[in-house]
Amino acid sequence: MNLSHKTAVVTGAGSGFGEGIAKYFAQHGATVVLADINLASAQRVADEIGAAGGSALAAYVDVSQSDSMAALVSQTVLATKQLNIFVNNAGTSHKNSSLLDVDEATFDRVFAVNVKSIYLSAIHVVPQFRAQGGGVFLNIASTAGVRPRPGLTWYNGTKGAAITMTKSMAVELAPDHIRVNAINPVAGDTPLLKQFLPGEDTPETRQKFVDTIPLGRLSQPLDIARAALFLVSDEAEFITGVCLEVDGGRCV
Ligand SMILES: NC(=O)c1ccc[n+]([C@@H]2O[C@H](COP(=O)([O-])OP(=O)(O)OC[C@H]3O[C@@H](n4cnc5c(N)ncnc54)[C@H](O)[C@@H]3O)[C@@H](O)[C@H]2O)c1
Repeated sequence: MNLSHKTAVVTGAGSGFGEGIAKYFAQHGATVVLADINLASAQRVADEIGAAGGSALAAYVDVSQSDSMAALVSQTVLATKQLNIFVNNAGTSHKNSSLLDVDEATFDRVFAVNVKSIYLSAIHVVPQFRAQGGGVFLNIASTAGVRPRPGLTWYNGTKGAAITMTKSMAVELAPDHIRVNAINPVAGDTPLLKQFLPGEDTPETRQKFVDTIPLGRLSQPLDIARAALFLVSDEAEFITGVCLEVDGGRCV
């Protein structure tokens, strides 16, 4: 699989899954725009990709803000003359807690970053994809939207929305040759994991999660990156509306 001559934007690329996806796409020939609210972390990853011989740019974005998403798209097109792949990966969560203990501001923030971002990506990216004759969205949803864990109710809801939006976007945008797929990762070894764990991040609480995964380990960024490369590649040209579990069997 090869992404040469393609530009891919990866949101939340300064850490975790997004970093893994961006590096893997660059290794496979893409020009990658690493977009993150933490510009310094995006720049670090872009520098590492550049040092390894890849092509990468860092960009600031707040995926919950329309102006910021619009600026990301125009900056990308100005710099690389095209936009072929858009990965909605940036995400956040409330801490694992009783559903009654999540305050309204936190609920709004988690929905803005995890759900409104997908709406904003459609508003700002679809016109560019249409002008180019097609494109690919990849949404990083979660097994949380398929097999929810207690303590994460509102986060789980954002991922259920991401899954439904993926399928609905896929059918509505198919006539424009725009494919839309999602990946549903199981709990992964990234900085976000501590939010999901019930209690402190200790070997014992991690083991509780591992015990629910038949293949016996957490997901790693490379697991997600490998599936992402396939779904955005031309080899997946007939695949749209798929929400692929990368979960070691958790959702069986
Ligand atoms: N780690 C897991 O266990 C897990 C499991 C399933 C799904 N996911 C999903 O994977 C995606 C990536 O998560 P991760 O585990 O790599 O997290 P992470 O915290 O390591 O990375 C998230 C990145 O998103 C950026 N970000 C946060 N808010 C942003 C905003 N408003 N605008 C732009 N960037 C923003 C952060 O700065 C960070 O670099 C998320 O959508 C998450 O919900 C994670």
